[in-house]
Amino acid sequence: MSEQIPARAGEAIPTDPRDPTDPADPRDVPHMRRAIALAARGLGTTSPNPVVGCVVLDAAAAVAGEGFHAYAGGPHAEVVALREAGERAKGGTAYVTLEPCNHTGRTGPCAEALLDAGVARVVIAVADPNPMAAGGVERLRERGVQVDVGVLTEEAERVNAAWLTSVRARRPYVTWKFAATLDGRSAAEDGTSKWITSPEARADVHRLRAECDAIVAGIGTVLADDPLLTARTPEEEKPRERLPLRVVVDSGARTPAAARVLSGHAPTLVAVALDADVPPHLHDVVRLPRTPYGLDLHALLAELHRRQVVSVLVEGGPSLAGSFVREGLVDRVVGYLAPALLGAGSAALGPAGVATISEIHRLEIEDVTPIGPDLRVVLRPGGRQGSGGATASPRPAPSKEN
Ligand SMILES: NC(=O)c1ccc[n+]([C@@H]2O[C@H](COP(=O)([O-])OP(=O)(O)OC[C@H]3O[C@@H](n4cnc5c(N)ncnc54)[C@H](OP(=O)(O)O)[C@@H]3O)[C@@H](O)[C@H]2O)c1
Repeated sequence: MSEQIPARAGEAIPTDPRDPTDPADPRDVPHMRRAIALAARGLGTTSPNPVVGCVVLDAAAAVAGEGFHAYAGGPHAEVVALREAGERAKGGTAYVTLEPCNHTGRTGPCAEALLDAGVARVVIAVADPNPMAAGGVERLRERGVQVDVGVLTEEAERVNAAWLTSVRARRPYVTWKFAATLDGRSAAEDGTSKWITSPEARADVHRLRAECDAIVAGIGTVLADDPLLTARTPEEEKPRERLPLRVVVDSGARTPAAARVLSGHAPTLVAVALDADVPPHLHDVVRLPRTPYGLDLHALLAELHRRQVVSVLVEGGPSLAGSFVREGLVDRVVGYLAPALLGAGSAALGPAGVATISEIHRLEIEDVTPIGPDLRVVLRPGGRQGSGGATASPRPAPSKEN
């Protein structure tokens, strides 16, 4: 999420003669974009809550306060922005990326905070699909506040994709990450793979890991590479209780006692088959049904959802990633492509349920960024000649508009 919007507290906003009640009013766009950029700052620390950003303008349309939800249990974005705005919020406008909540959880209802501050208009990007928290729009309107829903909805949904998927699909949002050569190889013919991508790309993977609640790998990867599967971020950025859960998909409970994935650096869950003989060194174990391709990944995600895991990073290897794709359980693909060729060796993705070209899984490129000498490509399901494919997008938001 870029931060190119120069809005700062006290900055005057240019006005134009358009009807200010039109949710598509172009004057709303920069403020909502700023609120979305603020929301993105909470990525990786708010789970199981959504990321939310808020910008408050005073009655003269100057920015008076900004805020974002920084961590679960901490103050909500609206409260932070209203605190900064103080008296200036009276008669002003609040831009919020997600419908203000109308219930008391760990903090009080944000709809009431906006009412108490005397805000005259609230602009919302995305209606809250969570029935427990929804109702903020009705509450504000009941009390005479003008509420407009639907400004930059798509952008705001993107930044909150993980949380929205978890609420709507009742499973975590799944990102499959891989590193490969330009010809799609993730290891050489003799199995060596360290390293295909640059230190810069590998550092970026740690950032990606830190944004997720769980990192998933198959037993093949654990036995071949003995990965630690932790997010190496500075301590102060992520307290231990926020470290991603490590998950090994291991039907036969073969994870060795000495495996680094069982180290004390972060918690580890091992998914095994219902009939597996579990050795005593595996402490946190979930038993799942078998399918023709291995363990039932829908059941795995249901268990992770039960544990309040909102976002999952699938790190491979190719067999497990292929199964996630085959099952339509991938919401985002992040590929690190090295400008290198191997010509032989294992492919980044294993069998994914494609027998013929008409079954191809097409994706849409969302972002391409050079990372050191490599390319990072971010893709989502869909794309032209969409296959009806293996990857799944969240269902559309329930419309609560006006
Ligand atoms: N370049 C990259 O980004 C990257 C990332 C990770 C790994 N790798 C490479 O991948 C290689 C290992 O590949 P791999 O395919 O053997 O390992 P994998 O995908 O990590 O693990 C596969 C194993 O997971 C278990 N499994 C359980 N349920 C499954 C399901 N539903 N679908 C698929 N597998 C399931 C199966 O073993 P059980 O039957 O025993 O449960 C299966 O053999 C290593 O050489 C590693 O270096 C590369």
